[in-house]
Amino acid sequence: MDRLVITGGIPLRGTVRISGAKNAALPAIAAALLTDEPVELANVPDVVDVASMLRLVQRLGTSATHIGGAPGRIRLLTPELLSIEAPYDLVRRMRASVLVLGPLLARVGRARVSLPGGCAIGPRPIDLHLKGLERMGAQIDLVDGYVEARAPDGLHGAEIEFPQPSVGATENLLMAATLARGTTRIVNAAREPEIVDLVRLLCAMGARIEGAGTSILEIEGVSRLGGAHHTILPDRIEAGTYAIAAAITGGRLTIEQAPLELLGAARDKLCEAGVELVERENGFEVGRANGILEGVDVMTRPYPGFATDLQAQFMALMCVARGAAMITETIFENRFMHVPELMRMGAKITVHGGSALVRGVERLKGAPVMATDLRASVSLVLAALAAEGRTEINRIYHLDRGYEALERKLAAVGARIERVP
Ligand code: UD1
Repeated sequence: MDRLVITGGIPLRGTVRISGAKNAALPAIAAALLTDEPVELANVPDVVDVASMLRLVQRLGTSATHIGGAPGRIRLLTPELLSIEAPYDLVRRMRASVLVLGPLLARVGRARVSLPGGCAIGPRPIDLHLKGLERMGAQIDLVDGYVEARAPDGLHGAEIEFPQPSVGATENLLMAATLARGTTRIVNAAREPEIVDLVRLLCAMGARIEGAGTSILEIEGVSRLGGAHHTILPDRIEAGTYAIAAAITGGRLTIEQAPLELLGAARDKLCEAGVELVERENGFEVGRANGILEGVDVMTRPYPGFATDLQAQFMALMCVARGAAMITETIFENRFMHVPELMRMGAKITVHGGSALVRGVERLKGAPVMATDLRASVSLVLAALAAEGRTEINRIYHLDRGYEALERKLAAVGARIERVP
């Protein structure tokens, strides 16, 4: 298993180019199952989760070909579905595999998708996906750990209200509703930019959807969808991660291919903490405003609130800020696995339920640590970049799931980082 070895303490300087958003590419690949015409995607990040999603749709009958020229161009074509099953070994490794459920049901009225089960950051059920599909007329049985869904007469429009917004359930139901008879209304829908990106793709394929980016989505079903070209939006979590890399090391980076407004609530919190963010053409520049970072409280919320996917990285930053910061996680249980690892590096953190009180220290110190999930892992990379001495991060396959060329991008702006097999 690969390890990352980082020698910290070097202020990062230079330019980082942001890749396409993993969390937008995954539903976009699933959406290609809705049509027998080609769907061409550009700016698809080269990360393991995308490769897993491509492997899954290939099993279902999609041919996926990389197109030369622009980076990350993929052509997906599914003349017919050869299988309707998302097997356990794929869903277990990547929960987003459940996103094929809606498209399969919509296109052929049948799907068999493994239940994802728990994961390191909590139980993460898919009940909202299933209840929504049932309201649209699907019959759903749970058999031997699989969701068996049927809609022999096709899906129909319905009014679906979520008790809390779910990104995945919103995406699954959106895709299912595009080919359902009649109108579907999703109330309390997720509003993440990745949902808006999926709506853009579906509309380019001929879907009729209103309300993208608001909490009410209205989808008027159509009888068929066609091919489309679509460019995946930039990865706001990756952009936020590199912004924090600049701030935590006391360096200055130019972030390319990601507009500043994409950072959303993280932008305000970074500013409050003493990070300067200046808009540039095609991106932004980031560094400390006056050399000192201040402790700032953060609570994760569904978009437009502070993203749970940036919580661990922000916590790493707060470890070296002046004063204290209370970081509260409200989206996932058990999303503090980075805490004991950061403490091994000298961070002062106390966890009470869903809140972590971080008391800033002058300096972190390198130590051997272990990566647990994607965002926790990258928070350890950030801490290591700022720490005195050498940090060895084990189990880094989590990073490869979601960060394109992480060590190459960091090395190019001055980090001493090495992957050791
Ligand atoms: C997506 C993102 C993930 C991000 C998360 C929250 C992708 C591929 N992944 O995950 O990176 O951290 O949004 O922004 O886009 N829930 C239920 N029942 C359901 C579905 C969800 O109770 O049927 C709960 C979850 O356990 C969680 C909350 O709702 O507590 C939000 O989860 P959700 O928005 O669905 O996250 P994902 O789509 O899995």
